[in-house]
Amino acid sequence: MAAKRFAACFLMLVLISLLVAYSFSLPLNWRSLNLIKKVNCKGPYIGLITVFPPEETAFFQIGAFKPNQKHPSVDLSGRRFLVGKIHDKKVVYVRCGVGMVNAAAATQQMLDLFDILGIVHFGIAGNANNSLSIGDVTIPQEFAHTGIWDWLNPNRSLNYDEVANLDFKRYNVPRGDNLLGHIGFSYEQFFSEYGKANIARPLFWANTTRQWLQVAANLKGIKLNQCLNSSVCLPQKPQLVVGLRGSTANIFVDNAAYRDFLFQTFRVSSVDMESSAVVMTSLSNGFPVIVIRGLSDLAGGQSGHNSIDTFGSLAAINACKVVVQFIKQLHLDTREPGFPRSIHP
Ligand SMILES: *[C@@H]1O[C@H](CO)[C@@H](O)[C@H](O)[C@H]1NC(C)=O
Ligand SMILES: *[C@@H]1O[C@H](CO)[C@@H](O)[C@H](O)[C@H]1NC(C)=O
Ligand SMILES: *[C@@H]1O[C@H](CO)[C@@H](O)[C@H](O)[C@H]1NC(C)=O
Ligand SMILES: *[C@@H]1O[C@H](CO)[C@@H](O)[C@H](O)[C@H]1NC(C)=O
Repeated sequence: MAAKRFAACFLMLVLISLLVAYSFSLPLNWRSLNLIKKVNCKGPYIGLITVFPPEETAFFQIGAFKPNQKHPSVDLSGRRFLVGKIHDKKVVYVRCGVGMVNAAAATQQMLDLFDILGIVHFGIAGNANNSLSIGDVTIPQEFAHTGIWDWLNPNRSLNYDEVANLDFKRYNVPRGDNLLGHIGFSYEQFFSEYGKANIARPLFWANTTRQWLQVAANLKGIKLNQCLNSSVCLPQKPQLVVGLRGSTANIFVDNAAYRDFLFQTFRVSSVDMESSAVVMTSLSNGFPVIVIRGLSDLAGGQSGHNSIDTFGSLAAINACKVVVQFIKQLHLDTREPGFPRSIHP
């Protein structure tokens, strides 16, 4: 009798160990996958992606996000995806982490696993356009990844299949050549649902979704915060600007000369470290995407301290205000056949 019971227990233990070993060998844990199945039954959702804790704090401070009571969150690859609603629209939210790898990974995972209609990416950015001000919110029409470089031998002549060149020697003070040579800006390799499989095409400007930009353009009069508290205010009322250009690289820009170069060369009004990765990943997969960034600093154009520490939270709040109004205005009865796949060429 005892031997029999022991055998049964032993078998059970072996089975459990096998199951545990198997679940560790799965790319995602089965509990999360099971949860996602249940979450998706209640979909589709708008995917919200922000970057780092101060932006997340602003998102919760706005108070528009109502967590789902039954399935509030799913953990995947160390990130926490939150399920809930904003103005009766179903959303899945994640904080991806700084940089383009985190941005692309979180975007791809969201699109692959959740039932998603499109991506709203938001946060703060550096301001590269002297006609804009700190506290303004920008919703760019297109993004370039301005961090794909060929760092060239000083003796090599400029290469004209590059998008642009940055000559270090032009920035020498006092003037004179140095050994850093120049960097040539290159294209992304863009894979797409709509292209030939396994063939990438060169891409410099990645467009956000035109129909969503039109919705955003109607928000232009939106009231944004001008004051941090009762004593610290911006000199002018912040505004929403729609349709300019943005740039992204794994580079935090706090340098006036490089800021000027980016504005003069690419006509970009904002600099950040994630947007083009989120946009390109969404476009590759055929999903609509929009980027909403509050301007927190002058990316090096300031005299004195970088204002990100003072006005970062205000810029983040202003971006969130626009996100909430955008989601409110979005018509989601667009899920007719062909949506979202008809939105992109
Ligand atoms: C560039 O050319 C100069 C003059 O010909 C030569 O002395 C130098 O070594 C070259 N530099 C490199 C990095 O090739
Ligand atoms: C992106 O938008 C610009 C401006 O509307 C347009 O000229 C360009 O063709 C678009 N690019 C793609 C790949 O659709
Ligand atoms: C307002 O914010 C500034 C900057 O963070 C801080 O130095 C100041 O103490 C705050 N003032 C009040 C009245 O809270
Ligand atoms: C800079 O911002 C202003 C104000 O929104 C805008 O009119 C202008 O076109 C922007 N410059 C560029 C190069 O995009």
